[in-house]
Parts: sequence; C-alpha cells; structure tokens
Amino acid sequence: MFRWKKDKKKEEQLTIDERMKRVKQGEVPEHIAIIMDGNGRWAKKRALPRIAGHHEGMKTVRRTTKLANELGVKALTVYAFSTENWKRPKDEVDYLLRLPEEFLGTFLPELIEENVRVQIIGDQEKLPLHTVKAVSTALEKTKHNDGLVLNFALNYGSRAEILEGIKQVAKDIEEGSLEVGDLSEERFSSYLMTKGLKDPDLLIRTSGEIRLSNFMLWQLAYTEFYFTDVLWPDFDADHFIDALEVYQGRSRRFGGV
Ligand code: FPP
Repeated sequence: MFRWKKDKKKEEQLTIDERMKRVKQGEVPEHIAIIMDGNGRWAKKRALPRIAGHHEGMKTVRRTTKLANELGVKALTVYAFSTENWKRPKDEVDYLLRLPEEFLGTFLPELIEENVRVQIIGDQEKLPLHTVKAVSTALEKTKHNDGLVLNFALNYGSRAEILEGIKQVAKDIEEGSLEVGDLSEERFSSYLMTKGLKDPDLLIRTSGEIRLSNFMLWQLAYTEFYFTDVLWPDFDADHFIDALEVYQGRSRRFGGV
C-alpha cells in the first residue's frame, strides 16, 4: 500500500516552515502531477452542492501552486477537466469550465508576480470560447516567466493524446520528415502535448481512489505514486509536505539496481 500511515509532523511537532526547510534540503521533485479528486464528496459531507467543492478545490490549486513554487518545484500539472468529465450533468460541466476564468481572473496578477508560467494540455478545440480566451490571456501574459510552470490539463485524455501523437508520427513518416528508425522514446515524447516538460517525478492523487483515470499514461512510466485519502479541498500544506517526504524516502532506480 502506498499510503503514508504515520503522522510524522505531529510526532515531531514541527511547524510548516520547519518542515518546508527540511524538505528543501532533500531532493525536491522537479515535476509534480496531481489528480485532484474528492471535491464532490467534500461538498456532500457539508450538504453543499457539488460545485461548492470544485470552488473550494480551486483555492487548493492556488495554495498548492504557491507552496510548490516556494519549494523550488519546476512544474505542476493539475488535472482540471478530463475528456470523460463531459459525461457529468451540464450545470457541473459549465461550472468546471468557468473555473479557469475565475481562477485566472482572481489570481493571475499574483501568478505573474511570483514568476509562474501558465501552460495548458488538452484538446482546446472543444472548450468554450470563454475558457480558451481566459487561458490564452494567461499564457500570453506569463510566457516570459521562468519560474514554476503551472500546467492545466483541460479537456485532457492521455489515450487521445497518444493517438494524436501516433497520427502525427505517421504523417511525418509519409511526408519524409521522419525516418522510422529515428523514432525513439525521446522523439515520440516530443509528439505529445507535454513536449518540453520533464516527465513527472511524483504523482499525487487525493480522495482514496487508486487509479490513473487516463492521465499522462506515457509520461508516468517511472513516476513515484502517492495516494492519500484526503479530499482535494482539504489538501493543505502539511498534506503536501507529507507527500514530498514520502517521495524523498523512496529510492528511484528506473529499472536499475
Ligand atoms: C474530481 O472531483 C475533480 C474534478 C473533476 C475537477 C477538478 C477541478 C478542480 C479542483 C478545480 C480547479 C480548477 C481550476 C481551473 C483552478 P470529483 O468531483 O469527481 O469528486 P468526487 O469523486 O468526490 O465526486
């Protein structure tokens, strides 16, 4: 089981600042990917509509981005809307696709200030214009920032991404700009939406679900997985540091010894 059972920080009574300092002394993952799950259950527990959970989850994205940046993480990819999320009731879908606007409308000035660069992966063609506009503005306004990359997976599905990559490879081979023999894993990675980003070192999924849900299937091949029962809106600095401490306690061998 991957879960972190002991509540180390309570045993040791360290403050957040002390814990952050300690984590910074170790190897901080360069790229963290997060499946933010449990918004609906968080709301249900409080007899609130599901969208209240998503709204609270948006605040957690802000909090986590800030912490990751402070810790020196280079990229944070958050699964904000999957290709399967269209199956949800229309009101919820509409709300979820309004959230990037609300998030960026509220926090973009701070993100710029903190040198964060906003990026997006996913099929933008099917997104409403207002969502695309908000994201495009953020991409444009942060494109020269060289701090943390905050990468939103919006209308993202990994199988569709891989399939699209394969089609592009086939096209390039047909047109003669790519030789079959030159297609390596590294080269294929450049056909994916995450081109230019290092593969995630750490994947976090909240809310106790233990599956990948069509998220970064190619990119997570050697990633360390961390699953926690904490619901995404409740995921705070201590929980984030718990994940990083577990990561630092793992030995990554990439198939070696
Ligand atoms: C899964 O929880 C979560 C989502 C489908 C959406 C994630 C979106 C956010 C956290 C909002 C942040 C977005 C931006 C753009 C800043 P769920 O609704 O499936 O929860 P449940 O399993 O408890 O029902």
